[in-house]
Parts: sequence; C-alpha cells; structure tokens
Amino acid sequence: MKKKQTLANECLTITTADAKCLNGKFFLLVDGGRTLVMSMTESSDVDKGFCAMSTSTGQSGKEDETYELNYHNYLMLDHILSSQVMQSELKDKAVHDEHLFIVTHQAYELWFKQILYEIDSVRNMFMLPVLEETKTLLILNRLSRVALILKLLVDQVDILETMTPLDFLEFRLQLSSASGFQSLQFRLLENKIGVLESSRVKYNQQHYAKVFSKPEQVKMLEDSLEQPSLFQLLEKWLERTPGLAVKSFNFWELYKRSVDRWLQDMLQQSAQNETDESVKQSLIEEYKKQKESFESILDEEKYNAAVARGDRRMSHLAFKGALLISLYHDQPRFNQPSKLLSLLMDIDSLMTKWRYNHVMMVQRMIGSKVGTGGSSGYQYLRSTVSDRYKVFLDLFNMSTYLIPRGYIPPLSRSLKRQLSILIHEYMPRDSDESNEESDGCENETEERLQDLNLNGDTHKAIKFTL
Ligand code: HEM
Repeated sequence: MKKKQTLANECLTITTADAKCLNGKFFLLVDGGRTLVMSMTESSDVDKGFCAMSTSTGQSGKEDETYELNYHNYLMLDHILSSQVMQSELKDKAVHDEHLFIVTHQAYELWFKQILYEIDSVRNMFMLPVLEETKTLLILNRLSRVALILKLLVDQVDILETMTPLDFLEFRLQLSSASGFQSLQFRLLENKIGVLESSRVKYNQQHYAKVFSKPEQVKMLEDSLEQPSLFQLLEKWLERTPGLAVKSFNFWELYKRSVDRWLQDMLQQSAQNETDESVKQSLIEEYKKQKESFESILDEEKYNAAVARGDRRMSHLAFKGALLISLYHDQPRFNQPSKLLSLLMDIDSLMTKWRYNHVMMVQRMIGSKVGTGGSSGYQYLRSTVSDRYKVFLDLFNMSTYLIPRGYIPPLSRSLKRQLSILIHEYMPRDSDESNEESDGCENETEERLQDLNLNGDTHKAIKFTL
C-alpha cells in the first residue's frame, strides 16, 4: 500500500512498513531519522481504513508490539515540541521573542480545546431529557473549570506583554497575513456559548467565516451554529424551573404585587421624610424610572417587544425562571441553579476581560497600525469589547429586578417542601402542575394576594402565614 502525503511542505511516501498504528486515530510515521505522530484526519490522503485493517486483520501495517507507552509518547511530545517553527529563523535569523509568541498562541489554542471539550460535555448534559441534580453538580464542576481556565487565559496576556513593541516589529512582517482572527477554535467557542451572529462586528464588511476555506473547518463552524448553544439550552432549562407553574404559588402575580408595594413605599417615604423640594423631585423621578423599568418585564407584551428589538434575548418564561431562582436562591434546590447562573456570568465577564486585555496589548504592540489579518486592528477589536458580545446579558440585568428581602413573597408550604427535596427530576410543565401534591394549598396564592392587597395600608409590614 502506497499513499502520498504532504507534510510541512514535503512530499512523503507512506508505506505500511513505515507506519505503525497507535490506535484508531493516530499512527507513527518513521521517516528517515524522524518519528512523526500523525492523526488520521491530518493524513486525509491516507487510507482511513488503514488502522482498522491493521488491528483487525493483522496484515501489513500491524500494531507495533514493541511500542511502549511512556511519558514522551503518551503526550506526543515529539509532535508538540517540534511545532515551534520560527519564521524569522527560516527566513533570516531567529528573533528571540518569536518563540514566546508561538508558544503563547499554542498554549491558548490548547486551552481553547479543553474549554470546548468541557462546553460540549455540558451542552450534552443539558440536552438530556431529564437533568438530575447529580448532573447539575457535574455541570457546575465543569463550568467552574472553564471559568478557571479563562482566568488563566486573561492573565496569560501579561506574559506576552514582556515582549516589547520593537521586539515584535522584528518578526511581525514575517507573519504575513496570519492573524488570531483565523482562530477556528475561538469562533467555535463563541458560537457554542451563544454569541449572536447578528451582534458580531463586521470585519472589513466581511463575515468572519470567510477566512475559513477548508471544508472540515466550514462544517465545524456550521455545526456550531446549528446545534443548540449553551444559551439556548439554558433558556429551555430555565423555562422548566420548578415553581413556575404550581397552583399553590402564583409567583408572577405575587411578585408583581410585591414590586408595587415596594415602589409605593419608596414613593411614600420620600414624600413624607424629604423636606428639600428638589431632592423630593429627584426621588419622584427615580420612582417613575423604576416603575417604568419594572413594567418592561412585568408586562409580557412589552417584554416580548424588547426581545423582538434585540434589547433582551431570553424568553419571558425563562426570565421568570431565572428571577425565581435568584430571589429564592437559599432554597436547597435553587442553590445549584443559582450557582450555575453566577458561573455563566463569570464566563461572560472573563471573555470580556480577555477581549479587553487583548485589545490593550494590541494597542501597546502596534498602536493604530492595521492588523496582519487586514482589520483596522485596535479600532476593530475595541468595538468587540461591548455588551453585544455578552451572551448572558439578561442574567446581568436581572439584578435590576431584585427587591429587598422583606418584600419577597414567602413560598407556599408545598413549594417550600418541593424545593427542599434534593433529588428531583424536572418534569414538563403540564405534568409538573398535574403531579403537584394536593395538600389543600391551592388557596394559598389567593390568601397571599389578599395580604398584598394595595387597598390596605401601604405602610403595613407585609405578613404572610405559612
Ligand atoms: C503581540 C500580540 C498580538 C497582537 C499584536 C495581536 C493583534 C491582533 C489584531 C490586530 C487582531 C484583529 C484582526 C487582524 O486584523 O489581524 C487580532 C485578533 C485576534 N487575536 Fe490577536 N494579537 C496578539 C496576540 C494574540 C494572542 C496571544 C491570541 C490568543 C489566541 C490572539 C487571538 C486573537 C483572536 C481570537 C482574534 C480575533 C478576535 C475577534 O475577532 O473578536 N491574539 N489580534
């Protein structure tokens, strides 16, 4: 069997005698004095059945019985440590800092790979028809790992900044048109988390995907857009938040009344206690603004109009779920979900911090020169450090709608009990409702609504009986 293979601009002839199969994915290629580890995908010309054949039939190209796993070959260090090819060395004379430049980028790409691996596994868990609490714990664990890696990536910029702009200039021209803009994994990461296509800043009036021409890259990008993003999966999960559709506790109605009461109290207090007329006026203005802001979520039509305009992203139901979790996060079963929401915001913040650190470094290194990828450089990158690239912006904005603890409506007995159970399967909304225990709590919502009746004394402390 003879196959042609191009590697590092060389045309090698691979014979089964030279190649030793490691497993179904990789093979060792012994070429002269060099040993190369190649993946089956890299060697698109190589018969994909080669490894399968060698292991199953024991014909030529059989598995190397002398092959012994050790630190070096397990980590494929031949492959990794021979991949720092300095263009300056090839073309002229080695520029010391190019080594750091290459290693830093490679380290980023490796960590991007790990993050994608974690995000994929989290997305897969979210896609399960039933998401048990044990899985939520695993999701939390993996997302905190992602956040820690991102933290490292944010800080890693400092190391590259030890290179001076003059050092960079010494080899920058040799980078030709190579640019971080061509990082496929970075785009996959953005897409899989859920950066909106419509929010992206256009790059030279072109779609970012234009820089990827290999069919497998294009396919990976397409898949990353077609498959549900972390955002979309979270949204569906939040829509199933237990407590959103229970008879004993009409969360939305109770919340609405509590908000009204809180705002009324604020207004009343400012009217009664403030003697300075201008301060009083500004407090009244503040009240009006707050009321308007709350109306934008309390009124579903207004909320949906904001979604249509692109000012909000999450469905109204998911938003209610997130608010319920945030207000009652000390309930045992809302503990993990609230940590999850907080982790997703961490991830968003860290991505923004990375964009910011990167653009600061770019300005320091190249000022306002155009990028090697052809963009305006600093100007383009600066425009990406904005809320439009934040995926979980709705969660950040959630804090606007939190009300003081004393005004949060107490949960009904049955819901409190439901939320204290540690093992629970999320059920579709309808069955959730029909399966709810009938313990005479159906009238509790009514009682609470009466307690919150605004016709009564607005200053009366809100008391609920459980
Ligand atoms: C001296 C260091 C660096 C300079 C001067 C630099 C410069 C630039 C510039 C000018 C762009 C805009 C596209 C272009 O026109 O080329 C860009 C984009 C990018 N760079 Fe860097 N970069 C540096 C280091 C890094 C590192 C260490 C990474 C890590 C992976 C990285 C990843 C990226 C990514 C992912 C983009 C695309 C960002 C986006 O479109 O939102 N860069 N870089």
